[in-house]
Amino acid sequence: MRRIDLIGVDELRDGEMKLVVVDGTDQVLVIRQGDEFTATQGICSHEYFELDKGFLTAGTLTCALHLSRFDLSSGEPIDPPAELPLEIYSVAVESGRVLIEVPDGPLPISEQ
Ligand code: FES
Repeated sequence: MRRIDLIGVDELRDGEMKLVVVDGTDQVLVIRQGDEFTATQGICSHEYFELDKGFLTAGTLTCALHLSRFDLSSGEPIDPPAELPLEIYSVAVESGRVLIEVPDGPLPISEQ
């Protein structure tokens, strides 16, 4: 298990999201909704497009390129054209920092 420090709790306000680079090249999207933090892969599972350009609504993230909506609790796409779920990473908040806990090895990312 790896624990990766992403961002400070006070660097994101309610309703904001930010891409963080992990392992030099991978991107993780950190989302704050209320006091809840969610971390998902930063690039869409459909094509190469940064998800921080998308739109947040209650519990969902819409990719701005082809408008697939993803459920942020499961990562599952709600609308086409995306078919693959986004990876959702396990989040821990400790000492004012947001961390993810992922298996050893490369960061899991789902892409077509
Ligand atoms: S790139 Fe995200 S829906 Fe196509």
